[in-house]
Amino acid sequence: MGRPGLPGLGEAKVLEFHYAVPVEQTGWETQDRSGTVRFRWDYDAERAELLALYDKGKRKQWDAADRIDWSLEIDPENPLQVPDEAVAIFGSAAWERMGPAERAEVRRHMVAWQFSQFLHGEQGALVCTAKIVQNVPDIDAKFYGATQVMDEARHVEAYGRYLTKLGLAYPINRHLQALLDDVLTDSRWDITYLGMQVLIEGLALAAFGLIRNQTGDPLARALNAYVMQDEARHVMFGRHVLRAYYPELSAAEREEREELCAEACWLMRDRFLAEEVWERLGLDVDEAISFVRESELQVAFRSLLFTRIVPTLKDIGLFGPKVRQAFTEMGVIGFESVDLDGVMAEDERTAEEIDAARRAAAARLAARQADVAATIATGAS
Ligand SMILES: [Fe+2]
Ligand SMILES: [Fe+2]
Repeated sequence: MGRPGLPGLGEAKVLEFHYAVPVEQTGWETQDRSGTVRFRWDYDAERAELLALYDKGKRKQWDAADRIDWSLEIDPENPLQVPDEAVAIFGSAAWERMGPAERAEVRRHMVAWQFSQFLHGEQGALVCTAKIVQNVPDIDAKFYGATQVMDEARHVEAYGRYLTKLGLAYPINRHLQALLDDVLTDSRWDITYLGMQVLIEGLALAAFGLIRNQTGDPLARALNAYVMQDEARHVMFGRHVLRAYYPELSAAEREEREELCAEACWLMRDRFLAEEVWERLGLDVDEAISFVRESELQVAFRSLLFTRIVPTLKDIGLFGPKVRQAFTEMGVIGFESVDLDGVMAEDERTAEEIDAARRAAAARLAARQADVAATIATGAS
């Protein structure tokens, strides 16, 4: 008996990973210290915004197998179809020494590494959201959370399909794994949500947005745009629930959360420097890391990763002196004035525009086929 396949992948019947470096363990277990699973016996969910979000979550479900055109080819030499300035080590001595084939290899490995972290992060989101369904106290939040569990499974599937097509993947970055461990094993439901949806996925959301807006590759553009459309609902949930919850906490409890946010932001900014890629490609790892750390383009890129986190923390009321100081030192405090509703409305619009363009292309193809058939019929008669 073969394994059940996923439709739409052509020859590759299941998600098949070609890890760039050996993965010694096929899994990871972490101790969950939360003993609390909460049931509610009053089923009359009250909060209209959450029920509206649950309703929207139900209506906006989509199938990664057919909404995305998986027959599109990925260019192995430049998978994202972006200029070389987007490559982290562009301009370094190592880059200058490379010929076209080696540069193509760097581009492919960078995309494999980045999308692999998206994939593993999405699995983290899947597990975290399932946990939130268990321990969030209110029934309306559990309803909404259930739709998000399905969204996150779809995101894992979609990034997994992309990496299967690319033919290369990387294991989870150790810093991302450490961060996941912290947020997942905390017994407080809000920390799981804050760490996963506001910080880790907030940063990923900004990265998806940069790719969506810069890539010349239609597959990567559609994939990221559709995931972002779902993420807009996830951020909205965090804003509604956490904004109502945090004023109920003591100043000390809020401060503890702010410290956690500041620390996680420093960690995410400074520690994801793709060292595994440089090592795998046989470059001088220290030299590559210090180049990526200091390159002006990369510094600007890392700042842009905070466009979603900063205004969200402000919105949910975790914006005291420690968080403000951290963001000021990182040079990203200016993002506090980003219009979150505006950018998320744009995320929805972009996904819908891609759908519309695909429908229009299918209609044009059908019309052409009808023309050809009519011409043949006329000729035959
Ligand atoms: Fe997600
Ligand atoms: Fe999410």
